[in-house]
Amino acid sequence: MAEEDENGGTEEVVGVIERTRQVGNEEGAGKADSVIDAFGSLTVGGSQKQRDAAEGRVVDVVLSDMMMNASGMPFRDHAGSMDLCNAALTFCYDTLVTGGHFLCKFYQGKEDHALEMRLKRLFEKVHRIKPESSRKESKESYFVCLRRRPDVAREDVFDQPG
Ligand SMILES: C[S@@+](CC[C@H](N)C(=O)[O-])C[C@H]1O[C@@H](n2cnc3c(N)ncnc32)[C@H](O)[C@@H]1O
Repeated sequence: MAEEDENGGTEEVVGVIERTRQVGNEEGAGKADSVIDAFGSLTVGGSQKQRDAAEGRVVDVVLSDMMMNASGMPFRDHAGSMDLCNAALTFCYDTLVTGGHFLCKFYQGKEDHALEMRLKRLFEKVHRIKPESSRKESKESYFVCLRRRPDVAREDVFDQPG
């Protein structure tokens, strides 16, 4: 998109994301919490939504149906599924807004309890569901995770024993 600049010329503007800055205004004044976004801009105080945006949390819902090609070996398929679920959870941690939701398919096995504990540290409600449309003999199941909690430290999700 071409835009006219202050000298009457034009320049190409591609992919510019506008960011709201709340530096030194009344709303932010006196509040202890501040963040520096990916471009080095300081945001002091402001709403949860503004803090989310400043830190790149802009996604409302993450759905993951990821699965590797099944090997037929239950533990191998389970371990691969856990790796993909943890990658999806990392994506949620980085991008999901506070209050956002995550739905994730997984293959059941002995590591899924540790994953569930991790999910519970990031989300207010975590449901484990096996819909009727999923074949009973299949190990696939789903976690439905509702409402991302505010202000959860990364290490509190990922670096805790299951
Ligand atoms: C069950 S299929 C999903 C089908 C999809 N929901 C659809 O309707 O087309 C599993 C998908 O996970 C993807 N996948 C497997 N490993 C992946 C990885 N490491 N990163 C990203 N996607 C992966 C596969 O490419 C495959 O498309």
